Amino acid sequence: MQEILKELDRRRDLAKLGGGEKRIEAQHRRGKLTARERIELLLDENSFEEWDIYVEHRCTDFGMGDNRIPGDGVVTGYGMINGRLVFVYSQDFTVFGGSLSEAHAEKICKVMDHAMKVGAPIIGISDSGGARIQEGVASLGGYAEVFQRNVMASGVVPQISMIMGPCAGGAVYSPAITDFIFMIQDTSYMFVTGPDVVKTVTHEIVTAEELGGAKTHTGKSGVADLAFENDVDAINRLRRFFDFLPLNNRSDVPERPTQDPADRLEKSLDSIIPANPNKPYDMKAVIGKIVDESDFFEIQSDYAKNIIIGFARMEGSTVGIVANQPLVLAGCLDIQSSIKAARFVRFCDAFSIPLITFVDVPGFMPGTAQEYGGIIKHGAKLLYAYAECTVPKITVITRKAYGGAYDVMASKHLRGDVNLAWPTAEIAVMGAKGAVEIIFRQDLDDAEKIERRTEEYKEKFANPFNASRRGYIDDVIQPSKTRKRICRSLVMLKTKQLENPWRKHGNIPL
Ligand code: HXC
Repeated sequence: MQEILKELDRRRDLAKLGGGEKRIEAQHRRGKLTARERIELLLDENSFEEWDIYVEHRCTDFGMGDNRIPGDGVVTGYGMINGRLVFVYSQDFTVFGGSLSEAHAEKICKVMDHAMKVGAPIIGISDSGGARIQEGVASLGGYAEVFQRNVMASGVVPQISMIMGPCAGGAVYSPAITDFIFMIQDTSYMFVTGPDVVKTVTHEIVTAEELGGAKTHTGKSGVADLAFENDVDAINRLRRFFDFLPLNNRSDVPERPTQDPADRLEKSLDSIIPANPNKPYDMKAVIGKIVDESDFFEIQSDYAKNIIIGFARMEGSTVGIVANQPLVLAGCLDIQSSIKAARFVRFCDAFSIPLITFVDVPGFMPGTAQEYGGIIKHGAKLLYAYAECTVPKITVITRKAYGGAYDVMASKHLRGDVNLAWPTAEIAVMGAKGAVEIIFRQDLDDAEKIERRTEEYKEKFANPFNASRRGYIDDVIQPSKTRKRICRSLVMLKTKQLENPWRKHGNIPL
């Protein structure tokens, strides 16, 4: 028996070495952790249960028959993050460059299937040269099996992708389907075709980092949600992020004890809106003053900064925050911000996370770039997402809510549950100046008349009371009491029940 146990240890130790000491050293020299080290750091101590450590590929072509490494380039299993279940897979670059073989894909599929069965999130760590070239179409089939599961899991369990090395070719489409993509500065990249192919086809000369590094995808393309400094920073932040997420689409949002009183008044909010309506202020400061312990986990913070999205807690329970940012493009809605917020709203809706929307929006962004780019279709995504969603929706209009953007930003008409306004709110078809220039065009050369008309328009519409009279706003509140009012509304909405009509699925304007 002792011999058998020794043999077991020997096999395990061998498997744990992956591609061997030399390749592990090379991984460390690049500033990267190994697949196993990443899992160790991500999961609670001693909570990792590894599966399929002895799985090997079945390829015999190109000398692969004599080249088998237990585990086959991916470490899979489950464990806990702060006591909550999660399934993980972590590609091991030290084994065949983390490339995906048929067996490697089967390992990933196994944990995905189990995650779906028990209702737990999946975290995938990518560090891979893509399809295992020696396996040809078997590897492509393996990818497609993963994609299919990604799609089936979408909206059922949260899926998070950590890109911690290369992720190229069709391999990018698995992370692309998942709910969140995080990257590491300087050591991770994602692209459909690499710099060499780009050079051949389009004659552009570009580095891998410029083409698909963390900065590119968090700032330019919007493909990734956040970029972290290094592996350790990324994993620590991921653990914090995970705490906000429900385990699946039937579980409640996680709750965590808080010392922050629900009825805390925040006096500074009474003076945060500048007297001049054209002067911006930082909406992130507003959010910080309202949510539990100022703990706001912003995502996509470097992309479409005119809208803010992220998670926070109210009375200990997770909420999703969407807010216009007057500091950037005056908080206008454009193509990028509409898409960014729409996807977030849909995530929250899928996982029963109540939405709090802070509105200060002068309208949709004008211009040929926006129209040619399809703002009509893209803006409609946000409208569709808000109109479709059935989670509790609380809206606070802090200042401007003009035109179509008023409708879109979780208005009463899109089934907003509680719609509040600060006394500084201006709810109208457009700003006073623009409105007067259109409806009193004949008086344009009479400055005095125009001035009078503008004042008249402001008095009539640049306030929240016109909308309140119609019940479009449930109450005009003192800004300092916003937290208290939101907390009470959330308690009232805890048992909200609302169902959309049966359909196979809607047809969101993609
Ligand atoms: C098999 C691979 C591999 C792959 C890397 N390796 N990629 N083995 N299949 N796809 C092996 C290398 O042979 C090498 O083995 C080891 O992994 C480390 O690779 P290096 O090249 O030494 O590392 P590095 O210099 O860091 O370069 C990393 C890399 C490069 C940029 C990822 O390896 C590379 O370009 N690989 C090929 C990428 C690629 O074209 N993949 C297919 C994409 S198409 P040894 O034994 O020498 O250490 C695709 C389609 C998916 O993925 C479709 C889904 C629908």
